[in-house]
Amino acid sequence: MELAEKRIALGITGGIAAYKSAELVRLFVKQGASVQVAMTQAATHFVSPTTFHALSGNRVFTDPWDSNTDKGLAHINFSREADVLVVAPASANFIAKAANGIADDLLSTLTLARNRPLLLVPAMNAQMWLNPATQRNVAVLRADGVTILGPASGEQACGEIGEGRMIEPEEILEDVIAFLQPKHLIGKRVLVTAGPTFETIDPVRGITNLSSGKMGFAVARAARESGADVTLVSGPVNQPTPRGVSRIDVTTALEMHAAVLRQANDIDVFIAVAAVADYRPKVVTAHKVKKDAGSPPTIDLVQNPDILSDVVALPNPPFCVGFAAESRNLAEYAEKKRRAKKIPLIVGNLIQNGFGGDENTLTLFDDHGQTQMASAPKLHLARQLMARIAMLLKENDAAH
Ligand code: PMT
Repeated sequence: MELAEKRIALGITGGIAAYKSAELVRLFVKQGASVQVAMTQAATHFVSPTTFHALSGNRVFTDPWDSNTDKGLAHINFSREADVLVVAPASANFIAKAANGIADDLLSTLTLARNRPLLLVPAMNAQMWLNPATQRNVAVLRADGVTILGPASGEQACGEIGEGRMIEPEEILEDVIAFLQPKHLIGKRVLVTAGPTFETIDPVRGITNLSSGKMGFAVARAARESGADVTLVSGPVNQPTPRGVSRIDVTTALEMHAAVLRQANDIDVFIAVAAVADYRPKVVTAHKVKKDAGSPPTIDLVQNPDILSDVVALPNPPFCVGFAAESRNLAEYAEKKRRAKKIPLIVGNLIQNGFGGDENTLTLFDDHGQTQMASAPKLHLARQLMARIAMLLKENDAAH
């Protein structure tokens, strides 16, 4: 559970998107968070407080004069007992009040009285969003350290199309989880490779491997959560792009090599998680290879370039991290690869753990020796890896 022991104060303002906040509460609770809801009077016209009471298991605050609270000071305690205050949907009116410190109802008062981070999830008509007044208010809030999630573009409840839609509950959940992670890599540019490559034989066949992309996508997500600017170069996989990550899709090792080398001079960290094919067919036939009555066809192979080694060999290489999947002798083979590739850190995993599954067991090999990580979901391991990379980067900076 991604939000175990987290306490989320959720404000809901008046807008048709308020019905999506019911799903948001369900998602927060499913991830282990305790959720305390406060609604504006307008919001109660769209969805009943009873819905949020039932979903959160906690009473819902709607009335600024409600004295039935601890010390009678709901507006003070509400956000202080939380890790974060999220307002979703946040109407144009609420955004204007928050930007100007106006506290004329319960939610705006507890927003002003908060001492916790504020995340606003705007939802409004496109013209209201584009109005210079709203844009000015959003800029003020950003300058005040408030995080704005979205909005998205698309069809709106009023029938118009444009920017202003609330982002989806699953996206809000992912952004809130990311917000709560430690920011190890703020300002760093990170490039990640993921998945297998597919080496074409003919229009319908190729050589590939069983990498699902899960480990590499988890690494990209964890790097983004850590505050980095992340680009992910992925082979053919069926994984959703982590929020806020720029993704470049490639098929072959040669394409992956070209995509990586195009970016490699402008990055701080390169993490090569992809299971890149070492060889590709020498000849790609334009037409399907036909079954012959005679002997089976022979496929001549040529070696692919080593992407990681070529990045390491750049005049100003980024901090390079490799991965090694082995079926036995993990420590010996991984350490050998680390030395051969001249990289400061290699992440070892056994193929039976690493390929395809949601969990993995990782061992890190660097100049300090060997660090064994307990078996865990790939995202959790990727987060621990970010902490290690940040530590090694600091050491590196101090040494130069
Ligand atoms: O995608 P999943 O199903 O989640 O599985 C994840 C994984 C098991 C694929 C991943 O955790 C992993 O171990 N990836 C590396 C696989 C491997 O053993 O690669 P290698 O030994 O061929 O290469 C060593 C390193 O060099 C790797 O960082 C690789 O990305 C890089 N390399 C290799 C060959 C090549 N031509 N270019 C490269 O950059």
